[in-house]
Amino acid sequence: MEPRPAPPLQDVDNQELENLLSSLPKERGIIPSYSYQYQGFWYSPITLQGIINCQKYFQPRENDIFLVTSPKSGTTWLKAILFALVNREAHPPQDPHHPLLSKTPHQLVPFLEFLHPSEYDSLCNSSDSSSRIFATHISLGTLPKAITGDSGSLNCKIVYLCRDIKDTFVSLFHFGNNKKTSPISLEDAFNLYCKGISSAGPIWDQILGYWKESQKNQHKVLFMRYEEMKDEPYLQLRRLANFLGIPFSQEEESSGLVDQIISICSFESMTKVDVNKTGTFVDGFNNSSFFRKGVVGDWKNCLTADMASRLDQITEEKFRGSGLSL
Ligand code: A3P
Repeated sequence: MEPRPAPPLQDVDNQELENLLSSLPKERGIIPSYSYQYQGFWYSPITLQGIINCQKYFQPRENDIFLVTSPKSGTTWLKAILFALVNREAHPPQDPHHPLLSKTPHQLVPFLEFLHPSEYDSLCNSSDSSSRIFATHISLGTLPKAITGDSGSLNCKIVYLCRDIKDTFVSLFHFGNNKKTSPISLEDAFNLYCKGISSAGPIWDQILGYWKESQKNQHKVLFMRYEEMKDEPYLQLRRLANFLGIPFSQEEESSGLVDQIISICSFESMTKVDVNKTGTFVDGFNNSSFFRKGVVGDWKNCLTADMASRLDQITEEKFRGSGLSL
């Protein structure tokens, strides 16, 4: 019998999305005007459309890599690092024509939920054809089941990056207000955030989901922290390469390759690249708005002592008994 042709891939149609949105809890958003709660997490309408698409149509490949983060945890940075690491043979970091010098990390490593289904298969951002690199903010339970390993057979990997929640919130607050014509106040954004109403929030639940999975399934999920990347980039990069099954050889280490990758992806280098200074990302955000300060502890310049201790308290309560502290 002739195999049946695969059905054509299509976007969720507007009516289907409208029907879904009207059935979901809705709240004011910190960045989008409104957020909708889907499978326990808050998303913008455009993100939800992408989520439904990938739940319906996305098929992972054997060695796909998924970088998962909460917004403003350092996604752009780790996108660059993953791209440079995975493609280090085809594109040595000292190559004057390295793709990171002419494209943004978001162009090289797209968000799964912002891709059209017809783009899933054509993505080619790794020299190994059984592997692509995607990023996403989607919570563990909402990711397509084929990725999370329920199918059992695929070797695809999840790299989870988190960041101190106070810094993540402050970064999000500045990022949102960068674009908004009517900015949200710090107090309003803070109250929404504490209630868990932020893109892909509650942030604590998202982190905890991936943390627990990383403990259960260490070959599948690697849990990383922004602060550790800042503190000990060499060690973390080696840890990442080992996890992905592409460890640095003795020769690569002694040639300085690890430092070269760290250097091309550093805040200082990336903010000098023209394409990161100009142009816009989806939804009208300037490419430059993904690079603000890039430091640890900037929350001290923005949050009151009460705000900081409230976030710490929620974090402590949510993570109690999990073995995780941030
Ligand atoms: P700040 O707003 O605190 O400066 P995301 O990429 O998830 O949107 O996160 C953005 C945050 O990561 C911003 O934090 C940004 O400055 C920081 N960042 C971007 N590139 C970086 C880099 N190469 N090194 C360190 N931090 C970086």
